[in-house]
This record gives sequence, C-alpha cells and structure tokens, in this order.
Amino acid sequence: MNSPQDIKVAVFASGAGSNTQKILHYFKNHSRIKIALIVCNRSKAGVLDIANKETIPTLLIEKSVFEETGYVPELQSFGIHFIVLAGFLWKIPPVLIQHYPENIINIHPALLPSFGGKGMYGMAVHQAVLEAKEKESGITIHFVDEIYDNGKIIFQAACPVELDDTPESLAQKIHHLEHTHYPVEIEKLVEKAFGSLGE
Ligand code: GRF
Repeated sequence: MNSPQDIKVAVFASGAGSNTQKILHYFKNHSRIKIALIVCNRSKAGVLDIANKETIPTLLIEKSVFEETGYVPELQSFGIHFIVLAGFLWKIPPVLIQHYPENIINIHPALLPSFGGKGMYGMAVHQAVLEAKEKESGITIHFVDEIYDNGKIIFQAACPVELDDTPESLAQKIHHLEHTHYPVEIEKLVEKAFGSLGE
C-alpha cells in the first residue's frame, strides 16, 4: 500500500536488471521508501520482466522525448522524489537534472575517475581494467550531472584483480559488490535527503 508520506524512487534500467532485482527485494517491505517506477528504454530488456513479476509500474521511454522533456511530467505524476540509475546508458538531459538536483545517482562498475566516460560500460570496462594491468577494480556510486560518469563520488568499494581474471570473472566480482552495497547506499542517501518528509 502506498501512503502520501512514502519516499518514491524510480529505477532507470535497460539491461538484465540484476541490480534492480536486488533493489526491489531490499525495499520490498521498507517502511518509508518505495520503488514506485521502473524506467526503461528497451522494450526487450530483462528488467521489464522483473518489474512485471514484482508488479512495479514501468515506463518505456523514447530518446527524442527524453532529451526534450526528461519525462519530468510523467515522473512527477508518479510522485517520484529520487532517481537511481542501474544499467541505464543514455545521458541524462539537463531538464531532468534541474528537476532532481543531487537526487539522481548512478553506479559504475569500476573505480572512477578511471575507466569511465562515453562507451565505458559492460565488458568494455572490465577489458580496459585488465589491459591496464590494474591490481584492483571496484564500484563507484556517484551523483549524476550532465557529463558521463563525472558527478561527485559518494561511495566506492574495491576488489582485487587476479592474474587469471577474465572480463567475465571480474564482472562477477563487480556484480557481487554492486548487489551488496547499492541498496544500502540508496537507503542512506534517500533517508538523508527526504527522511523528514511527512513528519
Ligand atoms: C552494472 O554493472 C552497473 O554498474 C552498470 O550497468 C550494469 C547493470 O547490470 N551501470 P544489471 O542490469 O543490473 O545486471
């Protein structure tokens, strides 16, 4: 049941959705924070099946409209307070950032500021980390601004890169870190930003 005091979060995701699944599970019975909407730009994305199974409303978006309006009216009609990106690749337009200042976060599968920027997603990130012979990689949770992977860093966690790691084995370690930390960090940030709502 939704109540007017709920703090409503939208998850933007367009991939398999393993992070979204963990986030939905973590907040399922949360007293204040509700995952109220899944926003997706691919009609065949696995994350839509997850949303449907969990009976969370979804919004399938189109690039030209996104760039122009940021879907702000739709997000407002769902009463969204906070936006979490979890495998969403489109750049966030200025109009959306202006409506949700400091209230949009992303997770990146490497230790920013290294291995970020346009085109740095999925296996390309892990491949680049291995080619650079890094001794560790990890995850970065950061605020979203108008430049890819550029906003203020909120949280990082690292894992070792072993000599026999492949992009796939590294991806697995990174996913484990993401699933462990992202829901907890979302909770902390949302509570900090909106904890007094309705009091
Ligand atoms: C994650 O690795 C995240 O860091 C990146 O996109 C990936 C999404 O994976 N931004 P999933 O769809 O949640 O499994």
